[in-house]
Amino acid sequence: YTSPLLIPRVMPRGPVPSAPGSGTVDHYTVAVRQFTQQILPAGLPETTVWGYGSPSSPDTFAYPGPTIEAQVMRPVRITWVNDLVDSRGGFLPHLLPVDPTLHWANPAGGDQGRDSRPAFAQTPQAYRGPVPLVTHLHGGHTEQESDGYPEAWYLPAANDIPAGCAAAGTYHEGFRTTFEEKFQQNWAPGTAVCQYGNDQPAATLWFHDHTIGMTRLNVYAGLAGFYNLRSGAHDLPTDVLPTPAPREGDPPGVRYREVPVMIQDRSFNADGSLFYPSGRNFFDGFGGPYIPSSDISPIANPEFYGNTMVVNGRTWPELEVEPRRYRFRFLNAANARFLVLKLAADATAPRPVSPALPFWQIGADGGFLPAPARLDQLLMAPSERADVLVDFTGMTPGTLLHLVNEGPDGAYGGGTPGTDFTPADVATTGQVMRFRVVPLVDEDISTPPDQLKLPSPAKPGTATVTRTLAMYQADSAVLSGVGPRAALLGAVNADGSGGPLEWHHTITETPVRGTVEVWELRNFTEDAHPVHIHQAQFEVLGRRRLSGGDLRPPEAWETGLKDTVIAHPLEATRISLRFDKPGLFVWHCHILEHEDNEMMRPVRVTE
Ligand code: C2O
Ligand code: CU
Repeated sequence: YTSPLLIPRVMPRGPVPSAPGSGTVDHYTVAVRQFTQQILPAGLPETTVWGYGSPSSPDTFAYPGPTIEAQVMRPVRITWVNDLVDSRGGFLPHLLPVDPTLHWANPAGGDQGRDSRPAFAQTPQAYRGPVPLVTHLHGGHTEQESDGYPEAWYLPAANDIPAGCAAAGTYHEGFRTTFEEKFQQNWAPGTAVCQYGNDQPAATLWFHDHTIGMTRLNVYAGLAGFYNLRSGAHDLPTDVLPTPAPREGDPPGVRYREVPVMIQDRSFNADGSLFYPSGRNFFDGFGGPYIPSSDISPIANPEFYGNTMVVNGRTWPELEVEPRRYRFRFLNAANARFLVLKLAADATAPRPVSPALPFWQIGADGGFLPAPARLDQLLMAPSERADVLVDFTGMTPGTLLHLVNEGPDGAYGGGTPGTDFTPADVATTGQVMRFRVVPLVDEDISTPPDQLKLPSPAKPGTATVTRTLAMYQADSAVLSGVGPRAALLGAVNADGSGGPLEWHHTITETPVRGTVEVWELRNFTEDAHPVHIHQAQFEVLGRRRLSGGDLRPPEAWETGLKDTVIAHPLEATRISLRFDKPGLFVWHCHILEHEDNEMMRPVRVTE
């Protein structure tokens, strides 16, 4: 706890173009660059990372990226720039080992991702060419051409792209044409112009890279940021919630009481560089040397768990808090780690700890809950958000409180810390950040959480179609003859037939635009998977055991709109949703190693 919590600044807006109507849209240019940042405590080496920022203000480049502040019903248009080039304009290779045996973007394979994979009975070489990128606004109600389809990637406009490299995935070119027809926008090489309608309830969204087969590496390298969608100055009338939140152009030293908290686990090499395993032999669960085999890639990792906790781009930071209420927008942006967060007086107390303060959760992925939920702990799967109030009122200055993690240092299969699984290492990943109480500066006029009235968002309505889907543990070599073993998604037919499918198989999810559907997600694997669906925020209806029994209602913190739901092992999770934008989207597991290894399927919304 040697560095202060870094609170991301707000992304500066770009100039409003002169074209008629431009004033009704917020314009941004956001690039991805490589730079060094002090992630480890001062005195230890800096780390080379990738981050988002505004090219017209080079000091904005950061990991996590600056926060985009958006207003409900006011569209945001972003020109995304892949600026992974060096000072001479040549391409920068990836910071981390790219596995060519997965179905991935593969520019050198001429966009033939799946068919150009090397056999991995020998150890293939990691890809060292120019890096494809494509950004997705997670939780956004977005048109297909702006949604960051995983095959809509593009390379930087570098001056040394090898001959035979595709500059962009074919989908990128297709969506670009659609966008240009709609918005008469010119695109330069190495860029993508996307528009986000913001026609959805106020919510904590986030943006991150989504390139097929390398999302885990691009996000791990730093490509994530917050996108706060607000319905008014403070979401709710007259200082109901704690303020201020960061705003564009704030001077240094503002004491924020609305604080975004992005939690990730990372590992580092001794020189400060990010460590990501270059082979399966680094992965504890598969320890020992790699034995060549025809169905397990020597590079692919089934999941990644780091040995440090990084919050807003710094290991184990501290935040000074006054004895008053705070609003924290928690985001689990880890690759694979499920978090079980608690507020504890003693960071190293035996697990499970008894909580020193409760959380009052007021919002989830897609907006506010119908009512505040008082919780002793927050269970958060990768990509889930928890909009939470913590009331430090009455605490003596000098008091220390810890955000601890009782989730496992490995796969999560449900249950209680200490009973059903070993909680994370008390000395390292079992701790997240620290709060130090300082004297009160001015009176707290925010509403006490138990008296808050929240604007509950509308639900999708009554479903007329039920679709049964499933998660399987499968040997994908059986399916296609290539690719490592994986957890896979699949469809279950009315007669019970069906089975696991890979990304390239024929699209089986083709909802009709405007129809409300129930998706029953049956998890036949031993692990929980966070299931995320693009475009549509959904209602969680409940869960039941696959072996039978009644539908269990959703947890209190799942009663608002959600875009990611935990599918527990050997359970069916029921959600209802409505797609109202036609075109090509995806649904997938948000464990990034799973998503990159076939646990993702297209969805085509038809007219
Ligand atoms: Cu957060 Cu499809 O992604
Ligand atoms: Cu998964």
